[in-house]
Amino acid sequence: MAKQLNKSILITGCSTGIGAALVAEFLRQGFLVFGSIRDKKMEVPLKKKYGVNFVPLVFDVTNYSQISKAYKKVKLTLKGANLGILINNAGIAKLGPVEHISSEEFDLHLKTMVLGTFNCVQIFLPLLGAKNKCSPGKVINISSGGGSIGQPFMASYCSSKHALEGFSESLRRELLIYGIKVIIVAPRAFKTEIWDKSNIDGRAVDFKKTVYNQAFNKFTNFIKGLSEQGQDVQVLAQIIYKISSLKNPKVKYSMGPSGVQFYLIRALPKKLIDKILGKYFLLVR
Ligand SMILES: NC(=O)c1ccc[n+]([C@@H]2O[C@H](COP(=O)([O-])OP(=O)(O)OC[C@H]3O[C@@H](n4cnc5c(N)ncnc54)[C@H](OP(=O)(O)O)[C@@H]3O)[C@@H](O)[C@H]2O)c1
Repeated sequence: MAKQLNKSILITGCSTGIGAALVAEFLRQGFLVFGSIRDKKMEVPLKKKYGVNFVPLVFDVTNYSQISKAYKKVKLTLKGANLGILINNAGIAKLGPVEHISSEEFDLHLKTMVLGTFNCVQIFLPLLGAKNKCSPGKVINISSGGGSIGQPFMASYCSSKHALEGFSESLRRELLIYGIKVIIVAPRAFKTEIWDKSNIDGRAVDFKKTVYNQAFNKFTNFIKGLSEQGQDVQVLAQIIYKISSLKNPKVKYSMGPSGVQFYLIRALPKKLIDKILGKYFLLVR
């Protein structure tokens, strides 16, 4: 049985990457940690790995009824206490030109990162202090550099992260009524399994016979390079812990390598960036 601790957090997408690092960090900081996974077979091994203060929840963020079941488990475990923090971290990233990706794949990105976040926020709101206003919780939504910049071949991902940021802004203003804070964290290039899961090399084969062949190869090499140089997720988890403990956090935090490039991309006129990216990724000659 998990002990009842006065600090609690729920993190979605904890099987690997940033979610797994967040679980380890918040356990180290003395939290009761609820972590979502999709594969039921991971429940027991993770419980063994993390111990008594880790409570695995099995749900897909796109499945409202699975999350509602998990809500009951969280409520029971908290025994009347509020949930301190909800981190919406679950995500996917598959690359491809709009002309050739399937509508199902595009939809899956939106469902995972936008609808999934909506589902979790709506279901867990009562535990975050929407019922008991004495100790309002925090919602942290994991966006990306792709939440403010549209990269070629990442339309599904960037659309979802832009939408997630819009959703977060509306939510932040609505939840003023309860004093629940909503924070966007936008990491850039951390070493995780996200690109392995997206079968990046297989995608290059899929688009080999299209007009995008060269450009897509150049872009996938760029992404692989970013991922190889990516920072350790432990560092990110520590920063997110610090952000979560601030009394007056900013509305958005961007972090990770290539800060100067990202700053320049935001500061320069968009048409100039089109030219630079177009040339660099062989989309214009
Ligand atoms: N890595 C980076 O450099 C980077 C940069 C910017 C933003 N991010 C964001 O950080 C978040 C975590 O990514 P990561 O890099 O740690 O990748 P990751 O290692 O692939 O982790 C993604 C997690 O999300 C879960 N997930 C995917 N779809 C789900 C669904 N429908 N329902 C529930 N869980 C689902 C995965 O579970 P399964 O194991 O079951 O697939 C996994 O636990 C994502 O939102 C991503 O966009 C990452």
